[in-house]
Amino acid sequence: AIERTLSIIKPDATRRNLTGKINAKFEDAGLRIVAQKRIHLSLAQAGKFYEVHKDRPFYGELCEFMASEPVVVQVLEGEGAIAKNREVMGATNPANADEGTIRKEFALSVGENSVHGSDAPETAAQEIAFFFSGLEITG
Ligand code: CMP
Repeated sequence: AIERTLSIIKPDATRRNLTGKINAKFEDAGLRIVAQKRIHLSLAQAGKFYEVHKDRPFYGELCEFMASEPVVVQVLEGEGAIAKNREVMGATNPANADEGTIRKEFALSVGENSVHGSDAPETAAQEIAFFFSGLEITG
């Protein structure tokens, strides 16, 4: 089925001017960027977005990193977009990521891992609604 998923190009990647190279990976994989904006999250907004991780030891570090510099938030659309995006991103820890994936090529560490992608249909819907109104998304 055609799905939509929420993607974030993280501060380690925007800082190194990798937005275009990462978007090329998405587009080459058949994912269409149907919404996109560059924003600088506040610490509170980052904390809210990653609330499910609030009891993890890395939560504070994760939120500070995500609020440290601008990110690019986007909606990717395509056949099986949620799983496809996760394939293109590669494993969370770049040390475990397959050749050719975004995280293998660009990520610096498990924290500074260049991209975020929704992990399931329910979280995708929730995460898209966190950043975008319906009016901002176009086929
Ligand atoms: P993401 O897909 O954005 O969702 C939660 C993030 O937490 C994850 O990517 C990682 O970047 C980050 N993360 C996971 N484990 C660690 C860790 N041990 N230290 C720092 N950050 C982590």
